[in-house]
Amino acid sequence: MDFYNNKKVVDEFLFHRNKTDDPISAIEEVVIHDLINKFEGNVLDLGCGFGDNSSFYINKGFSHYYGIDSSEVMLDLAKKNNSNFKQMTFINCNITEFDYPTEKFDLIISRMTLHYIDLIGEVFNLIHRSLKHGGQFIFSVEHPIVTSSLDLPRSSLPKSFWKVDNYHHSGERKHKWLGSEVTKYHRKLEDYWSYLMTSNFKVESIKEGNPTEENFHSKEEYIRRKRTPLFLIISARKEQM
Ligand SMILES: C[S@@+](CC[C@H](N)C(=O)[O-])C[C@H]1O[C@@H](n2cnc3c(N)ncnc32)[C@H](O)[C@@H]1O
Repeated sequence: MDFYNNKKVVDEFLFHRNKTDDPISAIEEVVIHDLINKFEGNVLDLGCGFGDNSSFYINKGFSHYYGIDSSEVMLDLAKKNNSNFKQMTFINCNITEFDYPTEKFDLIISRMTLHYIDLIGEVFNLIHRSLKHGGQFIFSVEHPIVTSSLDLPRSSLPKSFWKVDNYHHSGERKHKWLGSEVTKYHRKLEDYWSYLMTSNFKVESIKEGNPTEENFHSKEEYIRRKRTPLFLIISARKEQM
C-alpha cells in the first residue's frame, strides 16, 4: 500500500498521534495491553508502523519482536526509535506476501492495520499457521460503524456527529484522509467472526474500547469519545494440541 509511503501522510499521522488524548493511547492501547495474557517467546507485529510500541513487548518479557510493514517511511522511523534493541527485526513487506514461518509465534498482533487489507480470510489462515499451539492473535481495526460510511466532510473542529450507512455492504471504501486518498475495507462484526471461525480460531474476547475517564486529560474529550465506538478489538487463540 502506497498511502503510508507518502512522507506528508506520515507527518500528518504523527501529528495526530502526538496530540493529547489521542484515542489510540487513551483507548485502544489500554485494551490491547490488557488482553495480552502471556509475555514470553516470539511476537509478530503486522503493520508495526513507526514502532512506538515495539519496545513494550521486549520490556515486558518477549524474547524477540518481529515488526513488518509495507511503508519504508514508517519502518525507517521504527528502526530509529528502537535502535537500542538487538532483539528486534523489522521487515519491509506486505502482510499478504510475508513468508509466514510455521508455528513460530506466541503472539501475533496487528493494530489498526487489517482494515487496509482486502482478502482478510487468507491472512487469518496464514496467521493461524504461524502461531504456536496455544498462541494468541490480537487485532484492532476501525470499528465497523465507522468504516460503514467514511464520507463525512472533514472539518478542523473535533467531530461531533458520525454517520452509519450501507452497513450491510461489506467491502471497499475510498476515503480522503490525512491529506490523501486511501482504500479501507468495511467488514461487519459478523464478518470478522466468520473469518476467524473459518481459520479455526477460538475467539476469546471482543472489545469496543470503552473510554475511561482516568485515561483522559480533558473531561470534554472523554465525554465526546463516549458517543461512538472507534475501535473493534478481538483476541483469538489457536487451540492447544
Ligand atoms: C494506522 S497505521 C498503524 C501503525 C501501528 N500498528 C500503530 O498502531 O501505531 C497502519 C500501518 O499499517 C501498514 N500497512 C497497511 N497495509 C499494509 C499491508 N498490506 N502490509 C503491510 N503493512 C501495511 C501501514 O504502512 C501503516 O504503517
